[in-house]
Amino acid sequence: MKSIIRDISLAPAGYDKINWVKAHMPILNTIEARFKDQQPFAGKKVAICLHLEAKTAYMALVIQAGGAEVAVAGSNPLSTQDDVVAALVQEGVTAFATHDCSPEEYHDYIRRLAEFEPDLYIDDGGDFTQLLHDAYAGKLDHMIGGCEETTTGIVRLQAMARESALKVPMVAVNNAQMKHFFDNRYGTGESVWNAIMRATNLVVAGTTCVVIGYGWCGKGVAMRAKGLGARVIVTEVDPIKAIEAMMDGFRVMPLVEAAPLGDVFITVTGNRHVIDRDAFEQMKDQAICCNAGHFDVEINKEALADMAQDCRRVKPNIDAYSLADGRKIYLLAEGRLVNLAAGDGHPAEIMDLTFGLQVLSLNSLVENRPAPGLYPVSPAIDREVAEIKLQALGVEIDRLTEDQAAYLNSWSLND
Ligand code: NAI
Repeated sequence: MKSIIRDISLAPAGYDKINWVKAHMPILNTIEARFKDQQPFAGKKVAICLHLEAKTAYMALVIQAGGAEVAVAGSNPLSTQDDVVAALVQEGVTAFATHDCSPEEYHDYIRRLAEFEPDLYIDDGGDFTQLLHDAYAGKLDHMIGGCEETTTGIVRLQAMARESALKVPMVAVNNAQMKHFFDNRYGTGESVWNAIMRATNLVVAGTTCVVIGYGWCGKGVAMRAKGLGARVIVTEVDPIKAIEAMMDGFRVMPLVEAAPLGDVFITVTGNRHVIDRDAFEQMKDQAICCNAGHFDVEINKEALADMAQDCRRVKPNIDAYSLADGRKIYLLAEGRLVNLAAGDGHPAEIMDLTFGLQVLSLNSLVENRPAPGLYPVSPAIDREVAEIKLQALGVEIDRLTEDQAAYLNSWSLND
């Protein structure tokens, strides 16, 4: 199939970006060497529908090194980096992706990825899985399986599995310990602030930041805001998470009470319209809103546009909505995942963990050929990724003695 990309002459800059991350992804380096030798994906087609930046590109090349024919499409129009995609195409990967494409182009690219007829795939958020089930259901029988990257995608897969509508074996990579402990918490925490600071170039210390949602990602965003010197308010709907936030040292209150206090608002809930008209009405002049949840539905931007007399792009990734009472509210990255749309996403060392889980889970699908359904990442893969990481860091840990293992085992047998 013929690739659709912006410009192949951008490839040299893409190679530089890929080589930079490759030097910081020891887990993928180790697996790449193994895959080159063992060729686990020989004769298989692998589709990848993820944020197309350098770390994803390196993972695509690792899968290709394992013998696969690889095709990619972006999982978000603003996170695709045209130079990286050009380098991938130069390496023989098929790509359907252009930065800032229209919604029509975005859906056309994902459709083309489905027509590649993959044996295996990696999805982020569930759009590709949904498309396969809606429009290509007749072709799912031959499919070996797929892996899902994020919380929102897992929620969608769980709903499909409950209704017996899931027709392919899927691995819930997000739910592995080596994923959400690190990617969601430390990756999102660091990269969200990196993106906000890049986009705004404003000080964080001394400001009041409102973090909406105290799940795995929200914990990271709140922790890093505190580290940067912000006063942090958390809003939640889950009473247990609310208490956790309080015990972690944050103020907890309903959003309408936090709205007049906040300088920066960050949504990380996986939910819809968590910042809505009632909150916009209370916000200070020049309040900044952004989203780090998977879809651009967490901030009700239609309501904001409706309330505004004018909306103007005042800086790359910053839109100013001018309200009738003279206040301005700033929205970053059109309410899309701020860390990917206004930044380069998670640090390479974090994505090394996640992508290590992804490629080993794909390999396990080939080896085990499970029936359609939703599966956890095997604990052995979770541990293997942790072991390779420790090795790469040169960190030794204690090991259970036989006696200790037997002792612990006797307790679990008695449970
Ligand atoms: P999670 O399920 O651990 O946490 C979500 C939290 O939001 C829950 O505690 C829930 O009670 C809370 N919540 C739901 N509705 C709310 C409301 N109206 N007000 C306040 N709190 C509310 O999920 P996780 O892993 O933190 O993921 C959150 C979102 O971020 C998902 O869409 C996920 O796909 C996405 N994600 C984004 C990443 C990024 O790079 N920006 C990385 C990983 C995940």
